Amino acid sequence: MSPRDYDLEPFWMPFTANRQFKAAPRILVSAKDMHYTSEDGRKILDSTAGLWCVNAGHCRDSIVRAIKQQAGTLDFAPTFQMGHPGPFRLAQSIAQLAPADLDHVFFANSGSEAVDTALKIALAYHRIRGEGQRTRLIGRERAYHGVGFGGISVGGMTPNRKTFGAMLPGVDHLPHTHNLEKMANSRGQPEWGAHLADDLERIVALHDASNIAAVIVEPVQGSTGVVVPPKGYLEKLRAICDKHGILLIFDEVITGFGRLGRAFAADYFGVVPDMITFAKGVTSATVPMGGVIARKHVYDAFMAGPEGIELFHGYTYSGHPLATAAGEATLALYHEEQLFANAASLASYFEDAAHSLVGLPNVVDVRNIGLMAGIELAPRGGKPGARGYEALLRCFEAGLLTRTTGDTLACSPPLMVNKAQIDEIFGTIAKVIKEIS
Ligand SMILES: Cc1ncc(COP(=O)(O)O)c(C=O)c1O
Repeated sequence: MSPRDYDLEPFWMPFTANRQFKAAPRILVSAKDMHYTSEDGRKILDSTAGLWCVNAGHCRDSIVRAIKQQAGTLDFAPTFQMGHPGPFRLAQSIAQLAPADLDHVFFANSGSEAVDTALKIALAYHRIRGEGQRTRLIGRERAYHGVGFGGISVGGMTPNRKTFGAMLPGVDHLPHTHNLEKMANSRGQPEWGAHLADDLERIVALHDASNIAAVIVEPVQGSTGVVVPPKGYLEKLRAICDKHGILLIFDEVITGFGRLGRAFAADYFGVVPDMITFAKGVTSATVPMGGVIARKHVYDAFMAGPEGIELFHGYTYSGHPLATAAGEATLALYHEEQLFANAASLASYFEDAAHSLVGLPNVVDVRNIGLMAGIELAPRGGKPGARGYEALLRCFEAGLLTRTTGDTLACSPPLMVNKAQIDEIFGTIAKVIKEIS
């Protein structure tokens, strides 16, 4: 390993125990397909597609080429009152991929921005239709919707909220759907729990529907440790929203672009939301990008409003040329290599491999859907998260990148994964789980 020519100190690392990390850093220096290379020259199998985002696999030639070519042709062009071909073309491809009449795309640069954009569109949509009193937003416990003030307000992961003050006013939370007693070791969607969606009726009764703008949920909760929706749950949310004129937003930042073996979770579950937020997989994480896909009636409401700028919202980099070039090349690669179909065809093998961990020491739950799995370990007495963190470190030493939230390990490999790699992922995790106490 060559000596580092940089100091670790100045970079304030996100969502990281900085002091712990800097005392024992884990540095990745390159990547190809399913693997990273660490600075000490080890090959690390990527079981998490980076951060649930490298869906096409690492440093894929056609995407790299497209980014290089774009950087030398048009580095930047404004999309406020100007345009360039990239975002129009990419929006068209995304609209074709999205279900039903989800056919207009607003671009942002991250999942957090996508979520804030969708919440703002929801508020503005009601106002432009003369229902400006619909201002309440409804999220869910344990939800992760990024780190903007909108996202943490509707989000439900306590550590991400508790230090940041009052957040947005007028937000309610549905109960989360995770229940070890009722659904431990479910394969795919749990049988129990659809009734939890009825809580939305309670919230409506409390505030009156005329005050509620939107409900936002991750169709499968990812960052909290892969919580799969009970059978019938999302359908119920949709029906209740329809009944009361409330917009339903699916946050598909993780589930979008093939994670469940379909383009979107909305396709997988057969439930059409009014808006989908996306990020990550749209460019396979090569260039930051996020966005919102809106149904026709949402877009049309704005186009029927007063002439002039219809929505006072946007980012300097909305539809950035490098991101749109990366997005177009990524969608083309998904299509050429049929990567969503590969994910779908491997889902049951992946499920069996994940569930082979049931019964190992301290494993209290294994849950999965598509190419996502959560393995929940019992917390060590008085030290929640410690066992999960040790598992993460040991996996990394053993050549596997995984991810933990609390004591839950999460796996979500690139969609180009094969059976041997799935065996390696869960084989390594099994070995590590047996080693740690
Ligand atoms: C469902 C969901 N929404 C939003 C985000 C935030 O995305 P970003 O980190 O790109 O801001 C994430 C990130 O993991 C996510 O999982």
